[in-house]
Amino acid sequence: CADGKRMWFQFKMLIVLLAVTTIGVFLTASNTGWIELKMSGSCWCEKCFSEENVFLNQHLNRSIEPFLSATTSLTEDEYDWWRHLQSNRHNFSYFKETIDKLFKIISPTPVLEKPKTEGCRTCAVVGNSVNLKGSHYGPLIDFQDIVIRINRGPTKGFEEDVGARTTHRVMYPESGSILDNSTHLVMVLNPAFMKYVHQKWLGKKGKYPSTGFMTLISALHICDEVHAFGFGADSNGSWSHYWQPMKSKKFKTGPHPGKQEYAAIDKLADENTIYFYKGN
Ligand code: C5P
Repeated sequence: CADGKRMWFQFKMLIVLLAVTTIGVFLTASNTGWIELKMSGSCWCEKCFSEENVFLNQHLNRSIEPFLSATTSLTEDEYDWWRHLQSNRHNFSYFKETIDKLFKIISPTPVLEKPKTEGCRTCAVVGNSVNLKGSHYGPLIDFQDIVIRINRGPTKGFEEDVGARTTHRVMYPESGSILDNSTHLVMVLNPAFMKYVHQKWLGKKGKYPSTGFMTLISALHICDEVHAFGFGADSNGSWSHYWQPMKSKKFKTGPHPGKQEYAAIDKLADENTIYFYKGN
């Protein structure tokens, strides 16, 4: 088992280097299978993205893949943007070598769960806002094909408000939580995607986008119908959580442009591009 331990160590190192990971949780045996990432407009939902979604079309760039694969070609400029956010500032060749090693350990192509209704993949993106408390959104969240949670957001004890299912968990390593034995790594967020979200969607405001906002934008790339829950600061302008009071009143929205993010989510909802549930 020494080999196994070494592999596990390498695996952890790579994850820390890559900064953002998405963890997919295999659901119950009732799953019907997995299909390739949605690539083009084959939407069969009641309402699909169209030219009427002006704000979406002004900002969405489908050519930028949300998740890294063995074939993603990252430019040095994109790498540099991402590198400045890291404490560990290795050069581009080191990064590329690391990616090559990474894709020898994990699947080189991300795969997503099959939608319940053919051609209409619905997703719930669940942020960690205190506005979920007492919202009773649980059944609505669990009803979607894919439920994406963020960082430490718990479900146990909060099912009525936040649901019980988790398909993917997107987390920064430092905000990571211990996941159960049925959890498998499926995707690593593309640094070029982070840069695109910061520049295109947020007009370069703040230091970098929040994990929740990046997750919401990636959902626009991979889902046909997006339901957003748990986004929004408290009355003090702080990103307090539904499971505990805010520890530091000074944190507000940290290095993230909370106001711009909320305004963008609101705009998407105004144009009926997404369903936005504002909670309590
Ligand atoms: O605090 P944490 O980063 O784990 O929360 C996950 C995401 O939920 C944030 O990245 C942010 O996008 C969103 N959030 C929010 N309002 C809050 C708390 C979190 O919009 N009050």
